[in-house]
Amino acid sequence: MTAPVVVLVGPPGSGKSTVGRVLADRLGVAFRDTDADIELLAGKPIPEIFVDEGEPHFRELEVRAVRAAAETHPGVLALGGGAVMAEATRELLHGLPVVFLEVALADAVKRVGLDAPRPLLAINPRARWRELMDARRPLYLEVATAVVDTQGRTPEQVADAVLEAL
Ligand code: S3P
Repeated sequence: MTAPVVVLVGPPGSGKSTVGRVLADRLGVAFRDTDADIELLAGKPIPEIFVDEGEPHFRELEVRAVRAAAETHPGVLALGGGAVMAEATRELLHGLPVVFLEVALADAVKRVGLDAPRPLLAINPRARWRELMDARRPLYLEVATAVVDTQGRTPEQVADAVLEAL
């Protein structure tokens, strides 16, 4: 069993994938993103999984993807923003270095608007993001071994802060 050197958690738009790639580069290890693993498992993009099979099915695939990656990926691992909602996932993260990337709504919305489509933020994204964050912030804090504020920082600066926090 090989564990990730760091796991990144945080809401959509916190920069997990961008920062994760920079970090992986710096550390000379591979980057892995459970959203991409889920798309491979399902053979379709995430918005289609939500439409065709529903969110509960997506969450089952997500627990499987996190388990596989947490047990075998020796690099940097980014989780989808909602992964921490599953107790099984929170348990899988015990004992691993987990960094919560904090982000303010305005920054997150800017990034999410430019990025891949998120089914949970398709309608009224600002209000939805706030609701999701209210529900999930305690869970990010529960699994995190360190918290890094991304406010006003470039992905390179956030990666530096993550490395310092490890
Ligand atoms: C989700 C976040 C997405 C993706 C899916 C559900 C969520 O990942 O897993 O759309 O529940 O917040 P990102 O956090 O990478 O956007």
